[in-house]
Amino acid sequence: MNSSAKKILIIEDDQDLVRTFTAIMENSGLAVSVAFSGKEAKNLLKRSLPDLILLDIKLPDVNGLNLIEEVKKEFTETAIIVITGHSSLDNAIRALKLGAADFFIKPVDLKALKKATDKCLWEQEKALENKRLYQEVQTQNIELEKMMKKIKKLNEELSKAYIETIKSLAEALEARDPYTKSHSDIVANYAKRIAEKMGLPFYEIKKIFQSALLHDLGKMAMPDGILNKPGLLDEKEWEEVRKHPEKSEEILKHLTFITFLPIIRHHHERFDGTGYPDKLSGDMIPLGARILAVADSFEAMTRDRSYRKALSKEHAIEEIKRCSGSQFDPKVVIAFLEVLSNEMEKGVG
Ligand SMILES: [Fe+2]
Repeated sequence: MNSSAKKILIIEDDQDLVRTFTAIMENSGLAVSVAFSGKEAKNLLKRSLPDLILLDIKLPDVNGLNLIEEVKKEFTETAIIVITGHSSLDNAIRALKLGAADFFIKPVDLKALKKATDKCLWEQEKALENKRLYQEVQTQNIELEKMMKKIKKLNEELSKAYIETIKSLAEALEARDPYTKSHSDIVANYAKRIAEKMGLPFYEIKKIFQSALLHDLGKMAMPDGILNKPGLLDEKEWEEVRKHPEKSEEILKHLTFITFLPIIRHHHERFDGTGYPDKLSGDMIPLGARILAVADSFEAMTRDRSYRKALSKEHAIEEIKRCSGSQFDPKVVIAFLEVLSNEMEKGVG
């Protein structure tokens, strides 16, 4: 008998029947234990759990129905087949209600009994397999949930570090160039509202907003004499200024999580292709950069510089309109004018 053989416990006080049942079950490869009374059965059950019990419901010392109840309470997986006489058919039906898998009336049809035990053990195997699979899935689900929580936490940390980095970079530029102080914030807010007005998706609006905060970062690399020059710049100095979009890109390119470098690089391109650094035109210029160009120019025009006074809002709006189609994307200009008009209706600015 191999150790993985299914175990059957025969509980029967009729020695002849026990011999017959034992022979059949052993022939089927089952490991057979025998109890001739309820007491013996209980002792055996304390030592080992059978896969199947063949139970004569009418035992001399215990009520067979109670025994079924006890077994089912302790070992739900154990299948029970009841053997009963004609006179106790009612009990057989009650036994089924208590969880017995089948019943046989004496004299027992041995072929049918053999078939029933095979069926019970097969169903039990299936049920156990399903239970194992269910538990496996449950365990995997718990693991998956743990991993998802971990990933969420890491993402939150990364996102926090990212925002902190952006803030520090913007602050570093403000410290270097007083003009930029608040300029980038205002430009970012205009750019965001234009993008919203144009119906761009949330993640694009976020990219445009963040790129606006950092668009002039390259000015940190410019000599002080140019950055804070009180008067007009000469051509050579202008040449230096025109390098700042590429320098901004250069500073940020190692931060691999930043996905808006093209917006920064091209924020001084012109719609007609005469801007810098790459002389891109029309739709070749990233939309974020076309939006940033309008917001940036408007903010710059309405701010005092050391070499000129700020233009009035009305005058700056006229300038933006005048340059629509040459410097600026007309669609962006329309959206921007709507943003300003909403702003004025609300009495802001
Ligand atoms: Fe710029």
